[in-house]
Amino acid sequence: MAVIGFFDSGVGGLTVMYEAMKQMPEDQFIYYADTDHVPYGIRTSEEIYCFTRRAMDFLMDKGAEILVIACNTATSVAIARLREELNIPIVGMEPAIKPAVIRYPEHKILVCATPMTIEGDKLHRLLESEHASSDNVDLLPLPDLVKWAEQGIFDPKTIVPYLWEKIQSQNYTAVVLGCTHFTLFRDSFRQLLGDRIIFIDGTTGTVNRIKTLANEIPTAAEPQTAAKVRYFQSGREVKDKDTLTFIQNIYNRQTILDEYIKI
Ligand code: DGL
Repeated sequence: MAVIGFFDSGVGGLTVMYEAMKQMPEDQFIYYADTDHVPYGIRTSEEIYCFTRRAMDFLMDKGAEILVIACNTATSVAIARLREELNIPIVGMEPAIKPAVIRYPEHKILVCATPMTIEGDKLHRLLESEHASSDNVDLLPLPDLVKWAEQGIFDPKTIVPYLWEKIQSQNYTAVVLGCTHFTLFRDSFRQLLGDRIIFIDGTTGTVNRIKTLANEIPTAAEPQTAAKVRYFQSGREVKDKDTLTFIQNIYNRQTILDEYIKI
């Protein structure tokens, strides 16, 4: 049994933790959403580093044994420095460009992320190492989706016109969802790009990595009796019914979208 600390600027990381909780029924989870400072994608690197460091310290204080930065933006900016500073395994997320170009080398791929991730050196180093160029990969910053997810706005009537304005071509085989919030909008992407569009995100790889690390942690002598999952917003524990219902609705949305995308 391990205690896993999840962090994101808001609700996006819940999509990853949802999958981890399904696959790791024995483990405990703590989720920290930095709702006071979301969205991160338009902030400075130093701000993002400071907010992320604060969240890491908080999660360690609460007993986390593995930290997961379920946020591509915070990973891009802060993970290298945090790994140097902290003596704990830290799992990060980056746009899943590698599996996309390996699977679809001759096809056109769209990579969507926050403006900060798209501009970041980390992404450009990744593109270089995968020999990805504008011949096969288009980069697209989508600043507004995070804000809508935080407000619980997912209606394709609002989202599709926005995507239509931003996405110039429909000739993509696959979309890399390089922001954990974007997974929640797969129905709108699909409405615009067609039923055959393939979604690639970092969830599976991240959950596999967490499971490997969790197996390496020695089992606690005393069985833990704490709750399976606890939620915090910028350090304050979430106890009110409305917010817990909002979180549950995000999980429900993931279940519905997973089914819808399989069809
Ligand atoms: N979920 C974060 C990501 O994966 C969103 C960052 C933001 O708050 O803009 O990049």
